Amino acid sequence: QDLTSFNTLGLRSRAAAFVRHESASELSALSDVADRFGRVFILGGGSNVVLASQLDSLVVKVEARGVQLWSETDSELVIEAQAGEVWHDFVAQCVDKGWDGLENLALIPGTVGAAPVQNIGAYGVELDQRFHSLVAWDLHERRQVEMSAGECRFSYRDSFFKHAQPGRWLIVAVRFRLPKPWRAVTTYPDLQRHPLLARSAGAVTARQVFDAVCEIRRRKLPDPAVLGNAGSFFKNPIVSAGRHDSIEAEHPGLVAYPQEHGFYKLAAGWLIEHTGWKGRRVGPVGVHDRQALVLVNYGGANAENIRNLADAIRADVAARYGVMLEQEPVAVV
Ligand code: EPU
Repeated sequence: QDLTSFNTLGLRSRAAAFVRHESASELSALSDVADRFGRVFILGGGSNVVLASQLDSLVVKVEARGVQLWSETDSELVIEAQAGEVWHDFVAQCVDKGWDGLENLALIPGTVGAAPVQNIGAYGVELDQRFHSLVAWDLHERRQVEMSAGECRFSYRDSFFKHAQPGRWLIVAVRFRLPKPWRAVTTYPDLQRHPLLARSAGAVTARQVFDAVCEIRRRKLPDPAVLGNAGSFFKNPIVSAGRHDSIEAEHPGLVAYPQEHGFYKLAAGWLIEHTGWKGRRVGPVGVHDRQALVLVNYGGANAENIRNLADAIRADVAARYGVMLEQEPVAVV
């Protein structure tokens, strides 16, 4: 099976075997197939993976659909979405229905089921702040489990699932807790100064936040349908205050955000841009010209092209700032 159109980087990749998962009633049968194969890889929208050219695994593409209001009280709404829902369509549907609270996460590529894996986040909101629980199928033990936020072990672009045994867990559905009353989150610098939100905070609607986020993303980030990419390719590194201060002393203008416990998150896009990589192209791959944190495939690239480019950037950033960048998308071999 050719996976080139199933990963947003558009990397050339083939899988030994491929099956679509569409309904919870098939989970037990899926475990049977998985047992026969041994190696399994669960694929959602393919927007946060670097797929090797040849995968020996059985690839399971999650396509189960459905969204419902799961519960409602005076203080919250809980919405349940099946894992195969397209993330942005789900967010748009929530905004349409007045289920406000996910609008800052508009236009993130990928599926609902993939969202908890890397704890997606953007423009001041991270998934774990809106998370209620999830339902997962344990392919090895053949049982369905419910997992709380604590069990998912969320942190910045990270969760239990990024470290679990590959191919063991299939996220079936995710439940989101949307607090009432809703409050706009417009603290992120790009939103604060956005013309669509230039009114008193109390008067801003979720639809306006949604529109503003979509506008910013369309301006800065390449559309994977036009130019292959996997969003941010590196995490923003977190360093001690001491490290931050010494880097800033040598490199004035460094962009960084203070974190809890005296740490700083450095804008990796700034570091990469100031090593001269922004907009540079190496063969079929390159660094996006409007967001240096995004690597792009101009066409025909494979995982090795991307890995070589990422290594070169990492080496230059390490030499200049003494900071080792960590890859964000999952490498699938
Ligand atoms: N910057 C530069 N040059 C660049 C890019 C960024 O100098 O080429 C500096 C600018 O000062 C800018 C700052 O870095 O103001 C931050 O840039 P931006 O607002 O674009 O956000 P980011 O830190 O680069 C993170 C997430 C994005 C998310 C945005 C908005 C990570 C790894 N990335 O990017 O998430 O959309 O914030 O919240 O945390 C993703 O994970 O795939 C992703 C796109």
